[in-house]
Order: sequence, then C-alpha cells, then structure tokens
Amino acid sequence: MTNQVELDTNSDVTFSTRRWVRPEDLNANGTLFGGSLLRWIDEESAIYAMIQLGNSRAVTKFISEINFVSSAIQGDMIEMGIRATKFGRTSITMRAEVRNIITGQRILTIDKIVFVGLDEHGKPVEHGYDSITYDRDRFPKRDDDLGF
Ligand SMILES: CC(C)(COP(=O)(O)OP(=O)(O)OC[C@H]1O[C@@H](n2cnc3c(N)ncnc32)[C@H](O)[C@@H]1OP(=O)(O)O)[C@@H](O)C(=O)NCCC(=O)NCCS
Repeated sequence: MTNQVELDTNSDVTFSTRRWVRPEDLNANGTLFGGSLLRWIDEESAIYAMIQLGNSRAVTKFISEINFVSSAIQGDMIEMGIRATKFGRTSITMRAEVRNIITGQRILTIDKIVFVGLDEHGKPVEHGYDSITYDRDRFPKRDDDLGF
C-alpha cells in the first residue's frame, strides 16, 4: 500500500459541530477570542483524526496559516467542519472551515492541520488507512464497549 494518499482538497467540509459564543469566549473588543476558536478547532480536529486513524493517541503536529476574515459576537452561533485531505504513513492532514451561522460569513479556513498517531511509547505509528471513513469502524475497542 502507498504511504502518501492525497484526497480531493477542493471537497467541501461537512459542518458537524456548532458552538454558541458565550461571554467567556470574548476578547476585549467584545468579539470572539481567537484562542477560544483555536481550542475548539484543535479539539474538533483531534476527534476527527482519532476516528480516521483508529488511534486515540493522535497529537497535533502542524497547523498552517490562519487568517481570521470575520468574527462573531456574544450570542452568535458558529459551525465548524473538518475534512481529511491526505493520509500519510503515520499522519493525517485535514482542512478546517468555520462560519458564523447568524451572519452567514466565513470566519476562517485552515488549509493544513496535521495530526500524527502515536504508539504507547509516544513514537509515530503506521495507521494503514488511505481513505475517509464515515462510520465508527476504526475506533479502538475497550472491554466495556457496549457496541453502539
Ligand atoms: C508528533 C511527534 C512524535 C513526531 O515526531 P517526528 O520526529 O516529527 O516524527 P516523524 O519525522 O516520523 O514524522 C511523523 C509524521 O509527521 C509528519 N510531519 C513531521 N513534521 C511535519 C511538519 N512540520 N509539517 C507537516 N507534517 C510533518 C511527517 O511527514 C510524518 O508523517 P507521515 O508518517 O505520514 O509521512 C513529535 O514531533 C512530537 O511529539 N511533537 C509534539 C506533539 C504534541 O505534543 N502536540 C500537542 C501540542 S503541544
């Protein structure tokens, strides 16, 4: 199997998560604090990477340029989407997009977010996947798994 599989980088993301902008998410300008948004994106990417790589030890390796093109105010709702654009040997590369549901405006896109799957010693481990799963088939099982 090839170790580097580029997927269609122009495919739209699926907006899967919505957040409500609360007072604690604001900056001194009264708009959405960039740090809060980056935390949400990193968490969203981590969950996506874990599901795709079948590895709960997936860590952030690289995030490309981030250009905040619009914002949100208290009470707005935003939605985030992630999509895999490349499967490497031990890594997955994703694209992220965030938009404001209330204004309809895009807040940002991030072209490259790279996560690496690690083994129990913290070393990169080959994942063996080359395509996106839309199911829960890759997720690691536990003994108390009820099989949802
Ligand atoms: C993740 C980590 C173990 C990788 O170690 P490493 O020595 O760079 O490992 P490798 O050189 O084997 O690279 C692993 C993968 O990352 C990719 N990678 C490494 N540097 C990269 C970069 N700058 N940009 C994009 N991808 C990169 C490699 O291409 C490789 O992918 P592939 O196997 O799919 O081809 C190590 O960098 C680390 O522990 N970083 C801290 C991670 C972390 O804690 N993140 C949370 C935020 S603090």
